[in-house]
Amino acid sequence: MISKKLEGALNHQINEEVFSAYLYLSMSAYFLSLNLDGFAAWMKAQAKEEMSHAMKFFHFLNEMEGRVSLLAVKEPEKAWKSPLAAFTAAHRHEQHISGRINDLYRLALAESCYPMQIMLQWFIKEQVEEEATAAGIVRQLVQIKDSTQGLWMLNRELGARQADGRP
Ligand code: FEO
Repeated sequence: MISKKLEGALNHQINEEVFSAYLYLSMSAYFLSLNLDGFAAWMKAQAKEEMSHAMKFFHFLNEMEGRVSLLAVKEPEKAWKSPLAAFTAAHRHEQHISGRINDLYRLALAESCYPMQIMLQWFIKEQVEEEATAAGIVRQLVQIKDSTQGLWMLNRELGARQADGRP
């Protein structure tokens, strides 16, 4: 069994992860509008990964005999002023998600819910990777600056990402 407080917090996190998928799919559409198909493919793969995060929370809540209750997903932004602005927003979003995961962990500690603590350890590790990956691409875009050739090279590199892989 899981407490109502933890059940509510996990339902909220399912919503955060589904929104992450929605946000990255919106970024994918933005990159398609710029003809940057590699960037778009990377964001689409990221959206798929976010849905798998949502499903991890979904299954955990069920296994703990909690009740999954889906909340409304807010509308994501649709355009950014540059690829750098989009990836900067993605990086900031991952920092926000790390904060949410840390809040959940603190709650699981306060409620002495050991299974949830163990489950969240995977996410804590995952967030280190998520933030580092986004920060790495931001750094590359800063270096590229206004170079069209650099942008196309990165586009090709990001397009090589597999659905569950990293660049
Ligand atoms: Fe589900 Fe990118 O954190």
